[in-house]
Amino acid sequence: MEPQIQSDPILLGIETSCDESAVAILRYGTSTETEVLSSLVSSQIDLHRAYGGVVPEVASRNHALVLRPLVEQALEKASLQPHDIDAFAATRGPGLASSLLVGHSMAKALATASNRPFLSINHMEGHLLSPFLENHLFPGTLPHSKIPRHLALIVSGGHTMLIHTRGLGDYQLMGRTIDDAAGEAYDKVARMLELPYPGGPEIEKQALSGNPAAYQFPRSMPGDLNFSFSGLKTAVRYTLEKIEDHGQATPDLCASFQQAVIDVLVSKTLQATHESGCNLVTLSGGVSCNQAIRSALGGACRENGFEFLACPPHFSTDNAAMIAFAGLLKLQAGHLGNLTDDIDPNLSLYQEQSG
Ligand code: KG4
Ligand code: ZN
Repeated sequence: MEPQIQSDPILLGIETSCDESAVAILRYGTSTETEVLSSLVSSQIDLHRAYGGVVPEVASRNHALVLRPLVEQALEKASLQPHDIDAFAATRGPGLASSLLVGHSMAKALATASNRPFLSINHMEGHLLSPFLENHLFPGTLPHSKIPRHLALIVSGGHTMLIHTRGLGDYQLMGRTIDDAAGEAYDKVARMLELPYPGGPEIEKQALSGNPAAYQFPRSMPGDLNFSFSGLKTAVRYTLEKIEDHGQATPDLCASFQQAVIDVLVSKTLQATHESGCNLVTLSGGVSCNQAIRSALGGACRENGFEFLACPPHFSTDNAAMIAFAGLLKLQAGHLGNLTDDIDPNLSLYQEQSG
C-alpha cells in the first residue's frame, strides 16, 4: 500500500550526524507559518569534553541509548501519538557514519512500522533552509517550496560555504573552505588558549572584553570566494608562543582572531552576493550563533542594500527542527525518499562540477 500524504502534514525529524541527538516534530502550514510542535536536543558535549573533541564510538553508542526516549518525549510534548505522524525524516549525511546510521535507521523503522513516507535529508541543506524556519520576513508566502533566490553563508563546525540558492534543491557552490572550517578554527584556537570545548561560544565570550585591533592577524585569500582559516590559526599559535602571560592576553587574542574571521566572512559574502545578483543574504550553521558575526554581516548587508535573514540562534547549532523543516519542504514538493536510501558521510550539497 502506498503511503498517504495529508494536506498539512506533521513530520518527525531525527538528527544524529555528530554529537547531538535531536528529535523534532513540525506541522506544515499551508495558510499559516510552519509550527514547531516540539524540538529536543540531547547534547553529548559533556561526554566528549574530556577528549577535547568528538569520539565517534562514544557518540554513536550514546545516540542509540537516548534516541528512543527522545522520540517518546517529543511526541508527548507535542501531545501526539505515533500514528499522528504523517512522515519521518532523518539526516543522511554529511557526518560520522556510525552516528548517522543510528538516526537514519530509527526513522526508517518508524516509517516502515506506520507505513508513512521516509525522507533522507542532507544536513547542510537543513542548515541552509533553517533561516526560513521562523520566517517573519516573508509571512504569507507559503508554501515554503517557494524558497526565494538568495545567497547563503553556512558556517558550521565542518563546513564554510557560500551557496547561490535559486530555489529548493537548486544550489550552486560559490565558495568554500580549502582547509579548516570557521567553526573548526574557533575550536582549535580555543584549544590553544586552553578554553573548553566547543570553543566558539568561549571565544565569543572572551572577545567581549578584548581589543579586536590588539593583534594584526591575516585576512586570507582576498578577492577569492574560497576561504582558508588555517593560516589564521597558525598566526594565533605563533603570536601565543611569544606571549608570557596567556591569561592576560586571552581576551585580546580572541577579539583579534574573531575580527579576522568576521572581516573575511563579511567581505566574501558581499562579493558573492554582488556576483550572483541576489538581493537576499542568509546566515546559518553553528557559528551563526555568534552575535558579533550576525550583527557585522547584518549591518554590511543593510549598507549594501541587501535583505538579511539569519537563522534563529536556537536553530543554529545542530538540531532536528531544521531536518524536519527540510523534510516537510521536500514532502510538499513531492521529493520523497526511499527506504533503501543509505547514509552518506561525505554527502555533497551541490553538483561538484558546478563549483
Ligand atoms: O552546525 P554545528 O552545530 O555543527 C556542525 O554541523 O558542524 O556547528 C558547531 C560549531 C562548533 O565549531 C562551535 O564551536 C561553533 O559551531 N559555534 C560557535 C558559536 N557557537 C557554536 N562559533 C562561534 N561563536 C559561537 N557563539
Ligand atoms: Zn551542523
